[in-house]
Amino acid sequence: MRKEKDYYFAKAKKDKYPARSVYKLEEAQEKYRFIRKGKRVLDLGCHPGSWSLYASSVLGPKGIVVGVDLQETELAGQKGGAEINLLCYDVYSDELVRAIQRRWPGFHVVLSDMAPRTTGSRYADHQQSLRLARRVLELTRTLLHPGGSLYVKVFQGEDFPEFTSECKPLFEHVKVVKPASSRRESREVFVLGRGYRPSSKKNRK
Ligand SMILES: C[S@@+](CC[C@H](N)C(=O)[O-])C[C@H]1O[C@@H](n2cnc3c(N)ncnc32)[C@H](O)[C@@H]1O
Repeated sequence: MRKEKDYYFAKAKKDKYPARSVYKLEEAQEKYRFIRKGKRVLDLGCHPGSWSLYASSVLGPKGIVVGVDLQETELAGQKGGAEINLLCYDVYSDELVRAIQRRWPGFHVVLSDMAPRTTGSRYADHQQSLRLARRVLELTRTLLHPGGSLYVKVFQGEDFPEFTSECKPLFEHVKVVKPASSRRESREVFVLGRGYRPSSKKNRK
């Protein structure tokens, strides 16, 4: 078993998180502080719920987390954390957007740790991951407040630079983040966009 797996897996267990992936968000948050107390966070691909729990603890009791996944997710509430709402939808469904807009007037942060089912073909996995990330960008345009942040996972590959170019006009700052808890051999990275600026004509749908 790999050393990193042992370390982060055991740490998640000790910290009472259902998945080690929580540290991929925690590390970025500790460095860039894009989740702020009392705000609303949309967590796409939230199952089994570590990112939603962590975001809830950062947001505090006045904040709201909305987690979405293909799979049903159940979480025990965290003391002192934000309200967590868990929805079971495919992010490609239009009904998801309507269901969200009926209840919440937008978000200050959009997170996505979504990954496609891997096929063993690097190229196909890269393309499916980009398709998910582009859907996240579409949802971001509809649901993120001006000035807000996006933190989205992508499997790197030949078309990754094109994706970052699509993000750049939408945000004041765009960074590619590879957290220490992400396995070195994995091609996953996270694109962090801060300072969403929907007003530029180029960015309107
Ligand atoms: C790596 S897991 C997320 C782990 C989560 N961030 C945590 O820390 O607990 C990726 C999730 O993305 C979800 N996912 C993949 N494609 C999706 C889609 N089209 N719609 C909704 N969820 C999707 C999967 O069901 C899976 O639960």
